[in-house]
Amino acid sequence: MQKMLIEGGHLLNGKVRIGGAKNSAVALLPAAILADSEVTIEDLPNISDVRILGDLIEEIGGNVTWNRLHQDTVSIDPTNMVSMPLPNGKVKKLRASYYFMGAMLGKFNEAVIGLPGGCPLGPRPIDQHIKGFEALGAEVTNEHGAIYIRAKQLTGARIYLDVVSVGATINIMLAAVKAKGKTIIENAAKEPEIIDVATLLTNMGAKIKGAGTDVIRIEGVDTLHGCKHTIIPDRIEAGTFAVLAAAQGKEIIIDNVIPQHLESLLAKLREMGVVIEESDEQLLIVSNKPLKSVDIKTLVYPGFPTDLQQPLTSLLTKAEGTGVVTDTIYSSRFKHIDELRRMNAQIKVEGGSAIVSGPVKLQGAKVKASDLRAGAALIIAGLMAEGITEVTGLEHVDRGYEQITEKLLQLGANVWREDLNTEEVEQVQGQ
Ligand code: EPU
Repeated sequence: MQKMLIEGGHLLNGKVRIGGAKNSAVALLPAAILADSEVTIEDLPNISDVRILGDLIEEIGGNVTWNRLHQDTVSIDPTNMVSMPLPNGKVKKLRASYYFMGAMLGKFNEAVIGLPGGCPLGPRPIDQHIKGFEALGAEVTNEHGAIYIRAKQLTGARIYLDVVSVGATINIMLAAVKAKGKTIIENAAKEPEIIDVATLLTNMGAKIKGAGTDVIRIEGVDTLHGCKHTIIPDRIEAGTFAVLAAAQGKEIIIDNVIPQHLESLLAKLREMGVVIEESDEQLLIVSNKPLKSVDIKTLVYPGFPTDLQQPLTSLLTKAEGTGVVTDTIYSSRFKHIDELRRMNAQIKVEGGSAIVSGPVKLQGAKVKASDLRAGAALIIAGLMAEGITEVTGLEHVDRGYEQITEKLLQLGANVWREDLNTEEVEQVQGQ
């Protein structure tokens, strides 16, 4: 286990390249197993969630070849894959292992998998995924802590999602692409990652219309074939660096980004007084004036993303006035607040909102990342703070941010990693 040490107060400058989208990658890998021949995916982020999914594919007989030298490419040959229960230990390590439910159901008409893990953001039910599988004709049972999903034959259906869910929308697409007949998903999620998965599946021979709108129509096909796909850039990584640039940057260029995917964030940053220039694939962020507070309410895409709420909270500590942050997707995604308070932030949590008063000068402290985006928030806070900040819980950060230390160093930050000593490991685990 490691901690990140950050000497705050240095102004950052330069260019940072954004990797492929984590939340696409974790769906594209399971999607690839639906093909009968090799699928190659380019620009895959080198993060632990992706590596674990690669291992899971190998556990069930897939052949996974990584080529980090050539555009971070992975090739998945599913020819020798077999239907078997997925190992519980690895499944529990990440939320996105639930995409094997839809993918294995689509491929083998059955899937056996333990309940998925992931960041502790409060209750994260999967009832809408199950509703979709059942509508397609599968029987779903929970036996000894594992979910058994079995169908004689999947048949297209009309499915209305009661909750707009990224995971359920993708999982139902995965199960439906080879079902007999037509599936219509209504009240579908519209995130760019859903379009990315639909693009891969379409390149594999699937017939999908409407991805990116709230009604997705799928005409089932008998077989899917291999193809090559380049993943979209990670809008949340790009957004995190945009917030970081606003917090502690002079002039930062964010490269390999689709600015339209970040409109809600960029609008809020401009409201705060940050100057942003956009081109097709780059953002230039200039933050050289005092910032004004804003209120944030997270919503489904294209609203303000819940995954950027925590990093933005750190930025608000620097802004003049009071900003109210409300997360309507995960109402208790506020575990970073206590840690920010240790750093002198003035934040109250009241009725499901965090109320941030600023500006304050943050002070370096020992803090713990409880989840992936909390980690990003604390790193940004550490870069802004006076003195040294020590961030533990880096295993969460490494799940979703590729080479974060190297990227920060490239921008001129004074950061480094150290192994935790035995006492620190005990403290972190005991907390
Ligand atoms: N929900 C249900 N029932 C379901 C599914 C979801 O009630 O069957 C609720 C959830 O509890 C939540 C809301 O619906 O309140 C939205 O959940 P969604 O299913 O959209 O989230 P997810 O697919 O589990 C993905 C990302 C999250 C991101 C959310 C929201 C992946 C692997 N994860 O989760 O990413 O916060 O969408 O945009 O794609 C992260 O990257 O840090 C992260 C947590």
